[in-house]
Amino acid sequence: MNPIKSTAVVAGLTLFLANCSTTSKFYTPAEINTSASVSLSDLNQGKELLMGKCGECHRTPAPRKHDAAGWTETLKAMQPKAKISDAETNLIFKYLTSEKKI
Ligand code: HEC
Repeated sequence: MNPIKSTAVVAGLTLFLANCSTTSKFYTPAEINTSASVSLSDLNQGKELLMGKCGECHRTPAPRKHDAAGWTETLKAMQPKAKISDAETNLIFKYLTSEKKI
């Protein structure tokens, strides 16, 4: 591994660990959260989008805040604010509502 890459990995890992301590309300999706219509890749993308796009104006909301009906309503209001596509909104929705399968 070249030095630039390993620095990036260390920086990424440090960020990841920092995130873990301050945002323990976010779970890391696992195979157990998947279903025929939701893949692990969907859930990981949904988590990335949530962390990246939904914490700009307020704290990143915790998945447990709403059930599926509640998130449908909230995302309808937040999608234009976050300026995200329908596909991105759908991935965020899948992440927000998948934890209950554990
Ligand atoms: C441009 C700023 C902005 C962005 C980006 C944004 N929000 Fe919000 N959000 C707000 C404001 C302002 C409120 C409070 C007023 C309201 O409810 O419209 C709010 C309220 C909320 C609430 C509390 C109300 C409720 O329905 O529970 C949740 C949860 C929420 N946002 C989730 C999200 C999610 C998920 C995203 C990413 C898709 C997001 N927000 C992106 C501005 C933003």
